Amino acid sequence: MKFFIDTANMEEIREAYTLGILSGVTTNPSLVAKEKNVKFEDRLKEITELVPGSVSAEVIALDAEGMIKEGKELAAIAPNITIKVPMTPEGLKAVSVFSKEGIKTNVTLVFSANQALLAARAGATYVSPFLGRLDDIGHNGLDLISTIAEIFTIHGIDTEIIAASIRHPQHVTDAALRGAHIATVPFKVIQQMFNHPLTDKGIEAFLKDWESRGQ
Ligand code: E4P
Repeated sequence: MKFFIDTANMEEIREAYTLGILSGVTTNPSLVAKEKNVKFEDRLKEITELVPGSVSAEVIALDAEGMIKEGKELAAIAPNITIKVPMTPEGLKAVSVFSKEGIKTNVTLVFSANQALLAARAGATYVSPFLGRLDDIGHNGLDLISTIAEIFTIHGIDTEIIAASIRHPQHVTDAALRGAHIATVPFKVIQQMFNHPLTDKGIEAFLKDWESRGQ
């Protein structure tokens, strides 16, 4: 499983990139809105210049024509832009057009296996099932990942599954086990993934022993 970071914050992206773990970035309108006084297009340019992998940029229009227009403008910013489109009939019309034109797409707000299957058949490069938001309403987000992964395997579908709406490190482990190709992880969770008390204790003990070696 590869890692994307789920943020539009440049410091977080830079830090995760220097860790050498990053294969891409996902943004959404809510994440972009947190970044004050930054033009969306400028931020996308900045991100794509740093990260060579897929950078998802979401369209705001709700009709296919509007999404196609916006998507083409965003795709022109850099070759590694992926157009993020909501899981609606209009969204899939746009995905089908983008797919024929060789523009990569990420179908977002996926909450069922049928939605993922429809998106894949429309030509989506990625589908993004939202784990945390499903868990929030008492459903099992991880079961959805397993079901989509199984369907895609049975039918030889090469659309990649991005485990999204990740809330904690255990989500990451479980998404990997359930067959997600990618997890898009908030910076805070990436940091939490490093933590283990025995690592800290081990470093402390090594240093203490080193200092007491008496040379
Ligand atoms: C995915 O691409 C979305 O940006 C994201 O994971 C949404 O997560 P949230 O439920 O924490 O807003």
